[in-house]
Amino acid sequence: PVLVVDFGAQYAQLIARRVREAGVYSEIVPHTASADEIAAKNPVGIILSGGPSSVYEDGAPSLDSGVFDLGVPTLGICYGFQVMAQALGGEVANTGLREYGATDAAVTGDGGVLLGGQPVDQNVWMSHGDQVSRAPEGFDVLASTSATPVAAFGSDEKRLYGVQWHPEVKHSDHGQQVIENFLHKAAGLPADWNSGNVIAEQVERIRAQIGSGRVISALSGGVDSAVSTALVHKAVGDQLTAIFVDHGLLRKGEREQVENDYVASTGVRLITIDAREQFLNALEGVSDPEQKRKIIGREFIRAFEAAERELVAEAAADGEPIRFLVQGTLYPDVVESGGGAGTANIKSHHNVGGLPEDLQFELVEPLRTLFKDEVRAIGRELGLPEAIVARQPFPGPGLGIRIVGEVTADRLEILRDADAIAREELTRAGLDGEIWQCPVVLLADVRSVGVQGDGRTYGHPIVLRPVSSEDAMTADWTRLPYDVLSKISNRITNEVREVNRVVLDVTSKPPGTIEWE
Ligand code: XMP
Repeated sequence: PVLVVDFGAQYAQLIARRVREAGVYSEIVPHTASADEIAAKNPVGIILSGGPSSVYEDGAPSLDSGVFDLGVPTLGICYGFQVMAQALGGEVANTGLREYGATDAAVTGDGGVLLGGQPVDQNVWMSHGDQVSRAPEGFDVLASTSATPVAAFGSDEKRLYGVQWHPEVKHSDHGQQVIENFLHKAAGLPADWNSGNVIAEQVERIRAQIGSGRVISALSGGVDSAVSTALVHKAVGDQLTAIFVDHGLLRKGEREQVENDYVASTGVRLITIDAREQFLNALEGVSDPEQKRKIIGREFIRAFEAAERELVAEAAADGEPIRFLVQGTLYPDVVESGGGAGTANIKSHHNVGGLPEDLQFELVEPLRTLFKDEVRAIGRELGLPEAIVARQPFPGPGLGIRIVGEVTADRLEILRDADAIAREELTRAGLDGEIWQCPVVLLADVRSVGVQGDGRTYGHPIVLRPVSSEDAMTADWTRLPYDVLSKISNRITNEVREVNRVVLDVTSKPPGTIEWE
């Protein structure tokens, strides 16, 4: 792989994704990895990420300088560029000059392999205080800005390069080309990593892991469980059984998407557990959000375990026991939990809103090396329904935490109808790519006076909560066009009985969470 050395900013994941977009497989390693540890991973290229620190600060993240002696083509970015300059005998100065945001840079000379063939004048994205004041011996200065005389350097002979700006962000004019020049020209790596190869490789791995054993999977209707299940099915066919718990808190059409479209496109053997009654009964009289979440989690485990027990007994009688469970863990989860190789860290949050913790299964995690957009690409390659592959995040507890107040069958019906209208209009307006997700919330305990037709009404408000986000940790409310909001509002108040008001949530996160409960 190409190794992206993480100096502690959010940039490492973005760089790793850009490398993969260039058709080269990448992995992230912490900057504390020693040169030996890095060498042991057989890197074909190394990229040093940006970071939040100054190389002069106490405890600034450093790198084993032996990394530069490995003979592996290396590209330093921003902080990584400065670390590199310092390690190779150049100079980094704290000039007090800061460059932040869009900055004009000029390519010097022929730009070397890294910047060769690019326009001399470029607009690049900067974010730094310190700067490289002198390039190391034997390195050419490849670009400069008015504040930074050494904004990029390189040695084609040593195959070591660095840029002060962030080529991985879209705001840098020829950023992706910088990364591709490094990968394809400097390091000589072909662009041969793609969805098709990933599928072939994972199928082989899954077969090696599972052998003739049986495996079960919990489908939630979300992207990760859908794609991981489809991959495992491709690998071992009917050794896999998928379990889908209908807790009655799904949105309109979701059960059908799984039972019909998903099954038709994959051929997966699916067992649906109809647990709608069970969940409604358990939720009766409960309004407290945390209590609802606990109940939904508990009932989910009950429903899943009941199905699991039956299958396990059946399989055991058959002589081929169920030994494996599919889990849709993604690469960011792996990186964020320390990148460990272990499989112990199941997020209780993950996919289905909590699987039993004491399951006696070995995990099969075919998405462990992948980012979300790659998972979607693989889902498409596998021919999964677009409605599932393109699905926005949806919480495990489902509509149960989007009804403020007690959850009842009638209220779920109201919310499902309103939600379906909002989703339909957002899709029709082409806004799905712009929003991260748009919870639709029913304020079931609030009533307001309205007038519909000739009569006075006393109905409930629906809240629209469109948000834009990168990772759901922070979010901003999405400025949806007024005409789209107006259309959604008109349709909901006309078509959904009991709703006489539609309101828009204009709160960022923080302070508001994305969901209301
Ligand atoms: P909040 O409301 O905490 O949501 O800002 C952040 C993201 O997480 C989703 N979410 C959940 N996902 N199980 C899940 O699988 C849950 O219990 C859960 N609660 C919130 C939410 O939709 C948003 O994308």
